[in-house]
Amino acid sequence: MKYSKLLFIIIVAASCQAGLDSSNQSSSKVSELLRNMTWNEKIGQLSMSYVPELNSDVIAEIKSGKIGAILNGRTSFYSRVMRDSMQRIAVESSRLGIPILFGHDVIHGFRTIFPISLGQSCSWDIDLIRNAAEVAASEASSYGVNWAFSPMVDVSRDPRWGRIAESYGEDPYLNSVFGAAVVSGYQGEQLDSLSFLAACMKHYVGYGAAEGGRDYDYTEISERTLSEVYLPPFKAGLDAGAQSIMSAFNDISGIPATSNTHTVRDKLKNEWNFGGVVLSDWDAIAQLRHHGVAVSDKDAAVAAIKAGVDMEMKTKTYFELDSLNLNHKTWVDESVERLLMFKEKIGLFDQPYAATKYQLTPDTLSRFLARKIARESMVMLKNDRKTLPLQGCESIAVVGPFSEEKELMGWWKSLGDTRDVITPYQGLDRLALSKINVTKKITNFTDLIVACVGESQDWFGENNNRAFLDLPGEQEEWVKSLKKYGKPIVLIIFNGRPLSLTNIIDDVNSILIAWHPGIEAGNALADLLYGFHSPSGKLTTTWPRSVGQVPLYYNRRTSGRPDQISYKDELITPLFPFGFGLSYSSFEYDVPEGEFVESHPRITIDVTNQGQTKASEIVQLYRKRADNIETFPRLSLIGFDKKLIAPDEIKTFIFQVADHQPRDRYFCGSSSADLVEVGI
Ligand code: NOJ
Repeated sequence: MKYSKLLFIIIVAASCQAGLDSSNQSSSKVSELLRNMTWNEKIGQLSMSYVPELNSDVIAEIKSGKIGAILNGRTSFYSRVMRDSMQRIAVESSRLGIPILFGHDVIHGFRTIFPISLGQSCSWDIDLIRNAAEVAASEASSYGVNWAFSPMVDVSRDPRWGRIAESYGEDPYLNSVFGAAVVSGYQGEQLDSLSFLAACMKHYVGYGAAEGGRDYDYTEISERTLSEVYLPPFKAGLDAGAQSIMSAFNDISGIPATSNTHTVRDKLKNEWNFGGVVLSDWDAIAQLRHHGVAVSDKDAAVAAIKAGVDMEMKTKTYFELDSLNLNHKTWVDESVERLLMFKEKIGLFDQPYAATKYQLTPDTLSRFLARKIARESMVMLKNDRKTLPLQGCESIAVVGPFSEEKELMGWWKSLGDTRDVITPYQGLDRLALSKINVTKKITNFTDLIVACVGESQDWFGENNNRAFLDLPGEQEEWVKSLKKYGKPIVLIIFNGRPLSLTNIIDDVNSILIAWHPGIEAGNALADLLYGFHSPSGKLTTTWPRSVGQVPLYYNRRTSGRPDQISYKDELITPLFPFGFGLSYSSFEYDVPEGEFVESHPRITIDVTNQGQTKASEIVQLYRKRADNIETFPRLSLIGFDKKLIAPDEIKTFIFQVADHQPRDRYFCGSSSADLVEVGI
């Protein structure tokens, strides 16, 4: 396994460069194949099948060249042996011997399971996120997976939506930066090597805007919001070299994403010059009938291929296209060419089979990385009277529904195995500081209670939406009941989204948001609770007080009456702002300074660690833009940096801004609600 060091790019220019080059010429191999293919073989290349078992029908389909790619389900897997058996049939027994592509939802790890993406984003650590993708690529590709259906870069502003857990939060810039890091982690420098995976960015586009947070529901997205919020992360991923994109399920202001010529063919393929493959989402082409824009599978197929969707996931409507229709022929030829070039680019023709060496368990290095990223993903929201790190306790009780939970790997866990998961109790027990006794029950001798609560893995993820954001079941009452013991309470929350904490926040001393942290859950938790490391994670979603405030995100527009926006029955501010997170240390921010260097602002700020603990601090840079016609978000994150600072040490953070405009103002600080304007 190879960890590469990512050059930290502080500012990404908002205007993006050209994407993948569609002028890529077909190789002679691809041209030759195209010339020799029958209509059905061409459509076969555009079909991705779900194959739970290898039976005679599947064998016949592969032999006749009707399957271009295969995916496996969330819980049912092709084995490596089955994968290679299917490949052998394609390569040796189909007429043209074109290998099959094997796709899979590698989301936040394959065998070594890292924190859910929302958690990873709270580390604000590009290198770590990219390193985790490298591990996933090496494990998945050695199993025979060629194509990962991630990163998911759907900007998510609604915690009711279950898939917020798969995103990098509410901010377009963070989704861009982390999405691009995952693309380069998967694809490496040489995509056609056995240890890399092709990335598939999803869900194109605006899928996170589902009304009411209801997955699959309508999305009303203006052109402005599309280009300002939802498109930039995709463009950033393409600039990082992403070879494919998955179109989304949603209806974008009256045109479904799957049949949306404007977003797919015009924007992505023509304007951005994307030369890779667009894959539909599961069943989404046939579902155009439910959207009402097609009355038959044939209609649906025509609408999707016309819009530029190259490959069809799961269903077979493209077989309804008409070989005698000139338009259909042109669209199909173009898509087949893209598919074959994609296969060639990732080296599938040369290396169709899985690697001979396959790693069955997470190795020490990947576990080390999983622990580090889990630790850095966790966000401390409250720490009254320095309850944490644990000191001076002789006995702690680790209790609650998640204290011995092994399912802490999130909704997508690929080949993650619960036997690899270190539970909160196990981690805290194994790493206990000398003299600390760790128990599973609260007794008279207990000095402090570690209460582990949360949402189980099937309460978030696809179509796991919520109308309320409270801790599920009786957990709130249970937390409140702990007060009777009269002991300090440290609340650890394992979650896939921001939850309503208003009812219990005053009942506990400390709160640590652990997300679903993956296999190293307990160890990462112990690292923080015992003070071996300081928490450093910061929120990448605004944390609402109550569900009625949703959607609530930091980069809203200001309005003409900014001070009068209010609720009768709730405060207007969030419980915790975007970018917020506590540390065991405290940092003093000097006054930020700005100067123009070759007409680009350069912003410098010194940060001193004034506490006793070595800790990382994430400094954030925001911009407020203005002109005479348009309005802009009240603030937009445009840069950040994270540095480890020793006690009394001063570290200088420097930001270089690429696309300055005359009325731009800059703000620097430790969260979106704790900022100082930069004098420039
Ligand atoms: C549907 C999901 O929307 C998508 O994210 C996933 O990649 C496919 N199913 C395949 O599992």
